[in-house]
Amino acid sequence: MQDLTALLRLLRDDSFELVIVPLQDMGAVELATLEREIVRSGSTTVIGTAPQAEPGLILQAMRAGVQEFLVFPPNAQEFSAALDRLTRRGRPEAEQGKTIAVYTAKGGLGSTSIAVNLAFGLADANPSGRVALADFVVHGGDLRVHLNMSPSYDVGDLVQRVERIDADLLSSILTPVEGGVWVLPSSDRPEIGEMVDATTAATLVTELRNHFAYTVLDCEHHLTDRTLAALDGADKIVLVTQLNVAALRGTQRTISLCERLGYGADKLAIVVNRHQANEVLTPSDASTLLNMPIFHLLPNDFKSSDGAVSKGVPVGRYDRNSRLTQSYTQLVAKLTGLGNTNGKARESSSRLSRIFSIGKR
Ligand SMILES: Nc1ncnc2c1ncn2[C@@H]1O[C@H](COP(=O)(O)OP(=O)(O)OP(=O)(O)O)[C@@H](O)[C@H]1O
Ligand SMILES: [Mg+2]
Repeated sequence: MQDLTALLRLLRDDSFELVIVPLQDMGAVELATLEREIVRSGSTTVIGTAPQAEPGLILQAMRAGVQEFLVFPPNAQEFSAALDRLTRRGRPEAEQGKTIAVYTAKGGLGSTSIAVNLAFGLADANPSGRVALADFVVHGGDLRVHLNMSPSYDVGDLVQRVERIDADLLSSILTPVEGGVWVLPSSDRPEIGEMVDATTAATLVTELRNHFAYTVLDCEHHLTDRTLAALDGADKIVLVTQLNVAALRGTQRTISLCERLGYGADKLAIVVNRHQANEVLTPSDASTLLNMPIFHLLPNDFKSSDGAVSKGVPVGRYDRNSRLTQSYTQLVAKLTGLGNTNGKARESSSRLSRIFSIGKR
């Protein structure tokens, strides 16, 4: 519809489920008219568009009752994501979901890979609830790269409105990705690190928990107040390590820090990544050194792992039959007690995975 006046008149005379309205030529009067018609209809969903994402314009439109904003012309992915958010809105969400923080003291051990694959595994295992995947490497984190996405909004947009986070705001800012995962990517703005202090980080964790069945946090390796807030707020910390001395020393330090922080031993799950049978150090050596059981072993499979990253998909979508995919499924089952089909399968898969993990220790 090219003519704004005609559109507003149509809205007054008829009822529509979905209206897409260009915002750039709207003045205060048109916005007020639009707001009145939205309130009057009670059931019209409005998507606003403009050639550029101007924060002032978006804010004004949101205040007038516009639920979604898209840069015009939207691509098919952004448009369907907006529709998905709109249709999900209003549905009851699982309250007080679970939060899993993925952490390694040392870089390059697989934190982002594990966070991504856990999130998609949790979504597969739990189709009725939504899963959030948040980049707590708030500046220049890798979730965008791992999922090959260039979303319109990121953590910077959320922290700017941290005082009024609700289901609608989370649905507008997080980007849904095929597979039931909603992603909060990092920001490119250098000042974001200062904006996400401990209090803000704790608020983000709480709000995500309130609106998603599971939240997975990809934490930065550097122990900032923000990281501590994420670890504090998590129900479970997946502590990623590998079977080499440098990685295990870092893990040892993290375990003793967690003890000092008063975390119970069951809050930590040690996951050995890139396990190969012929390594000098065995899982049992690692368990002795760390004085903790090894929760899970993920096999070394660079082909699947890197192939998935190159395609921007989780390993399960890249090669559903790979050992790494199966191992991620087992990890999810152990963490949740959920399988990926019905109750019976759940029970047997978690029992199997328990036996499996005992056998490996
Ligand atoms: N199980 C695995 N088998 C083989 N390669 C793996 C496995 N898991 C991760 N990798 C590879 O290890 C590399 C580092 O992984 P990733 O980026 O997830 O680590 P990170 O801890 O997030 O690193 P950074 O310090 O950059 O944040 C990637 O090339 C990834 O494909
Ligand atoms: Mg990373």
